[in-house]
Amino acid sequence: MISKTTINNIYETARVEEVIGDFINLKKAGSNFKGLSPFSQEKTPSFMVSPAKQIWKDFSSGKGGNVVAFLMEHEGFSYPEALKYLAKKYNIEIEEFTKTPEEQIKSDLRESIYIVLNFSNEYYVNNLIETDRGKSIGISYLDGRGFKLETIKTFGLGISFNDKKSFTDHALKNGFDLANLEKSGLTINDSKDFFDRFRNRIMFPIKSISGRVLGYGGRIISNSNKVAKYINSPESEVYQKSKILYGLYESKSFIVKENNCYLVEGYTDVIQFYQKGIKNVVSSSGTALSSDQIMLIKRLTENITVVFDRDQAGINAAVKGIDLILEHGMNVRICKLQEGEDPDSLAKKHSLEFVKDYLNSNSFDFINFKASLLAKEYQEEPIKKAEVINNIVKSISLIKDPIKSELYIQSCSKIMKISEESIFQTLSNLKKQKNNRFRNVNSKSFHVIKNKNRTDDSVDELYELEKKIITILILYGEKKETFNESILVFSKDLEEIKEKNKYVNSRVFEKIFLDLQQDEIEFANKEFRDLFNILMTEYQLNGVISIEKIIPKLSNELSEIVSSIIMHEEKHFLHNWDKKSIYVKRPSENVSTMVTETILSLRKLLVSRKIESLQKKINADNNKSILEDVMGYYHLKRLVSSKLNRVL
Ligand code: CTP
Ligand code: MN
Repeated sequence: MISKTTINNIYETARVEEVIGDFINLKKAGSNFKGLSPFSQEKTPSFMVSPAKQIWKDFSSGKGGNVVAFLMEHEGFSYPEALKYLAKKYNIEIEEFTKTPEEQIKSDLRESIYIVLNFSNEYYVNNLIETDRGKSIGISYLDGRGFKLETIKTFGLGISFNDKKSFTDHALKNGFDLANLEKSGLTINDSKDFFDRFRNRIMFPIKSISGRVLGYGGRIISNSNKVAKYINSPESEVYQKSKILYGLYESKSFIVKENNCYLVEGYTDVIQFYQKGIKNVVSSSGTALSSDQIMLIKRLTENITVVFDRDQAGINAAVKGIDLILEHGMNVRICKLQEGEDPDSLAKKHSLEFVKDYLNSNSFDFINFKASLLAKEYQEEPIKKAEVINNIVKSISLIKDPIKSELYIQSCSKIMKISEESIFQTLSNLKKQKNNRFRNVNSKSFHVIKNKNRTDDSVDELYELEKKIITILILYGEKKETFNESILVFSKDLEEIKEKNKYVNSRVFEKIFLDLQQDEIEFANKEFRDLFNILMTEYQLNGVISIEKIIPKLSNELSEIVSSIIMHEEKHFLHNWDKKSIYVKRPSENVSTMVTETILSLRKLLVSRKIESLQKKINADNNKSILEDVMGYYHLKRLVSSKLNRVL
């Protein structure tokens, strides 16, 4: 773990505009910088960086946050990877946290395995590129497959010779430990003797997203029926095959740029595509696509195009993959290849233009794909057709976005020539079945979910109001304003309580703080609650907030919220409105009204909710004292409403 001091040091030193400037051409726009969004294809800039506040915002995708968030989004880094990148850029020495002895042993082991694997990769590459044996056996084979030297180097391909243990010997001679060689999967020890796992094979290093070698796929050089075409590294301390994608390290920036990821089956498919110029490509390397692998892609894009071999195994794998991809809320297209073709052979034979064209015109959404697979069969047989439709509807039922789901229903209706109503019916039957299953397993949680749906509208209203308060705090918290406060006073004879209006001068944050405290209002949303506390502490300590000081203290989620709020205000700079001297009305002109209105609306909402919940209780156990409470709250609600009306 990287120490807290190092993290602070990194945040203090790194400049968001410099870091982003390494990836995007930024131009000055007012006090900000603007540029073309790296997350979408666009011609007019909608990407903005604020040097003063050390945040960025991409209006085309809605993403934003601090400097670390940018690296995580753009480069697909993990949090520590992003910190390490920054430390390297700014020459900051990384101080690692002390670990428990067990953690230390484990991380030492991982580190040693990484070192072994890196050493082995240098060895296999050297074999291939620098030795006569490697050139005559390996390079000539790869050349025959159409791989250029540059590509071979990019992917770090190497060769293991047909010797019993030349790698293991070489490693031992260089001081490596036999135990670590075994743990890395490169050496096999069968109690009598030890030998190399990979012999007489082209070595495809499998890398992590940050480029470390984790293991290998080794392809036999001379085709033979006696041995497996590929053997792969066994799972190890550093290599879990369901958690990596072959080619991701090389392709990640292209996946972001193209906002699409081609998913193919094999090592050679990735390399051939990449060499041809279709660089946004990864492979699950012969294993069934896993959730973890989809999540890796999802960090970079929402769109996957599956291009699997045109054989039964490939089609089966594609069909399975589709549902898993849909379940993760991603968009999937499937490209159909000609009989006997795989991505490798397609790209090898044709020009880039042809391949691009082919991919575009032969990619289908999952409905068209599933329908076309079974087209011949179902045209004659109604039962088969029903099966196909059910199969498609099952996929649709996995889509959580209601708009997308509706569009697919329409499309399915057209393609399968069946009414939308029938599809809806099938879909709702399917959902009912699912719910029933759910209810049987756990009737309690079913209840909770039902209630949650019912109050969805008010959940949003509460969210919006809380967000508005945070927005006001960030943008106008330190302003001095005059508030019209009504206070309750006793009449002279103490007989009556009267409402009296009074003008109070106060800073916005104080007003908000006191009002919320008075009503003991706590934010329901965890992020807003955390932000509120941070902002209030800062105001109370310093009287002002300086966003650039707060940003480093925030988690990625919180920094995203803050950047979204601030940059929303700055958005008009994107359009050069200032230069054209068009007057942009800012909402800051009537802050005091806005504050009062927001707080009263929040109060009103909370009181209404309280009444609702009490009424439910009354219905349940007919309790008289609760009834009195309700009356009290009704009175309060009327009071708040009338105040609100006066403000509006
Ligand atoms: N695979 C494997 N073990 C095998 C066969 C295949 O691990 N015995 C994996 C490899 O990752 C391979 C992928 O499945 O890349 C796809 O298999 P296949 O299509 O048979 O291989 P290709 O990639 O087409 O290899 P080549 O073009 O070299 O024949
Ligand atoms: Mn192939």
